[in-house]
Amino acid sequence: MAPPLITGVPLREAVARIGSRRYWEELCPYLHIDNKGLSTKRKLSKGERVRVKQELVEEGYSKVGGCELLDMSHVELLRRGIEDLVAEGWPPTFIGLYDECWQAVGAMQNNLKQVTDGRNSCNFDVVAWHVDPSKGQHGFSPHRDRQPEDWVPRGLPHDVEATFVKDEEGNLVAKYVTCWLALTEASPDNSCLNFVPAPHDPGYYQGDVEEQDPMERVFSCRKEAYQHIRSVPLSPGGCTFHTHRIIHWGSAAKPNAASRPRISLSCAFSTSDFEKAYVLKEEARSFSQFDFDLRLALCAGQMINYGDRFLNELGPHVLRVYHRVFSSLSHLFSDELFSLDYFPCCDEVRRYQAEIGNKYVQLASSVQDKMEEDINATAKKPGEEDEDEDEDEDEDILDSALDSILSAKVKGMKGFVDDFEDIYGHADFPADRKEMQRKQRKQLPAKFFGRVSRIRGILKGQGSKKKRGGKRGD
Ligand SMILES: [Fe+2]
Repeated sequence: MAPPLITGVPLREAVARIGSRRYWEELCPYLHIDNKGLSTKRKLSKGERVRVKQELVEEGYSKVGGCELLDMSHVELLRRGIEDLVAEGWPPTFIGLYDECWQAVGAMQNNLKQVTDGRNSCNFDVVAWHVDPSKGQHGFSPHRDRQPEDWVPRGLPHDVEATFVKDEEGNLVAKYVTCWLALTEASPDNSCLNFVPAPHDPGYYQGDVEEQDPMERVFSCRKEAYQHIRSVPLSPGGCTFHTHRIIHWGSAAKPNAASRPRISLSCAFSTSDFEKAYVLKEEARSFSQFDFDLRLALCAGQMINYGDRFLNELGPHVLRVYHRVFSSLSHLFSDELFSLDYFPCCDEVRRYQAEIGNKYVQLASSVQDKMEEDINATAKKPGEEDEDEDEDEDEDILDSALDSILSAKVKGMKGFVDDFEDIYGHADFPADRKEMQRKQRKQLPAKFFGRVSRIRGILKGQGSKKKRGGKRGD
């Protein structure tokens, strides 16, 4: 279900609606956006921290049962908030608009920092889930959270072992760990996490091989390998920690199971030399005290970041709205703020913006037919009143996505050029320009095509980027 608040609503109006803080406060009145919510300072016992660290090192994951990180009342508030968001058609990840979500992330970090000897910090990759058995839903299919293609473009060596750091005892501690918190019971009936422990996975430290799927490699040698799959049910408030290299997945819920939807919240914690925070340096401000607009930009950005997994649920119109929300709040990430040391990790912020832009261009390309239909359906009809006289609004969405990619490219960041060229062809147009243009028009909605020549101008230093940002909530 798409959110009725923005479904079929012209883009500009939809963006204004989603930016209304009052709307979100009224939707979940028991949650807070005023930094006056709960504070949670629970910590695992020293013995538990030692056990979690050891299991992370030896197996690649560790389970903390019971409700050790948060009070049950806090868990219940988050669960209720996600249920109410989903009932209104919003993604569960929009729980990130509320203080209670960031207080939970703070509690995760309190414990994880100690487990990783103080090295790993929240990188703001937060995702929430609502897996409903009655709808045949399931979690992510088997994957590793990070592969060389994620870190090599950042200038890091391909070597997988280098993504771990040796502690004083010689243990390899992961530079990237995810905490996955169950907000309801998570069971095989309503979907829970499953892991292939590190000792049974040849690609965990060595890396994967091109000619064989990592799962095939694990299971093709001997059937006993299946017996090592660890299914990890959790009660509400329980959590798992897992490294970036462990193969894991969320099982498919049993169709029509009597159990309630599985609701969960996850956040990643990484070392700054491996993956810096997306939007904030965590020491700059406490988790509960970054402002509403920035939370909104992050939630919208995350929906695009994971858009290939949610594309069917999102639909092209909602996707456009989310990218417009994300890009229209780019003033929050401006150089002005960088100069105030508000965002000391400015290059990482640019990279995050570029990654979201990159993802949006890919998604727009994959749903181009529907995207074009949607643009036509929600565009103002001739003669209709248009107070803003901004008929380029639709095109601006792709424009800003491409601008962010180019901005990263100009800064010398890698990892975006190939995708850009996959869609637009080589940056140098061939002699038969008409033929190239014909091909390009086939690849993206016609309305988007006009941006290419301007972008090429920017690449060659001939154009000037349109000033944008600061529109939301006017
Ligand atoms: Fe994952």
